[in-house]
Amino acid sequence: MSTIMVLNGPNLNLLGTREPTQYGSETINDLKERCIAAANKFDHTIDFRQSNHEGVLIDAIHEAGERFKQGEILGIAFNPGAYTHTSIALYDAIKSVDVPVIEVHISNVHARETFRHHSYISPVAKGTIIGMGLKGYELAIQYIVETC
Ligand code: DQA
Repeated sequence: MSTIMVLNGPNLNLLGTREPTQYGSETINDLKERCIAAANKFDHTIDFRQSNHEGVLIDAIHEAGERFKQGEILGIAFNPGAYTHTSIALYDAIKSVDVPVIEVHISNVHARETFRHHSYISPVAKGTIIGMGLKGYELAIQYIVETC
């Protein structure tokens, strides 16, 4: 049994009430349940986290890197929220570790404001899942389990 880390960035704690036309009406707890169920299908577990703070996300990536080396973690499904579009520090953090990262966005960022079209994360992610709602996390988990 291994673990998949699901890491969520700023404002995703407000899922369910935040801009439901973009992000739907399910809460972060609903998302957590979906992720647990997706991993349980493969007899794996989820380490589910959310933080509004860039440094906490960086620490989580470093921790996942260490746990990846120990064979405890298979990969990270990572929705960096708005840090996607701003954070060289998250780019560097992912580049500094070997753990595979799948970048997930609930909304189709390319159909939104132009400032959402650029991602600092995509060049260092193994892949990206964009615009598929909360289902994107389940797909990322399945991908990590089957291929990482
Ligand atoms: C998001 C898209 C980002 O542009 C935005 O800042 C978010 C959520 C998404 O999941 O669609 O916070 O990452």
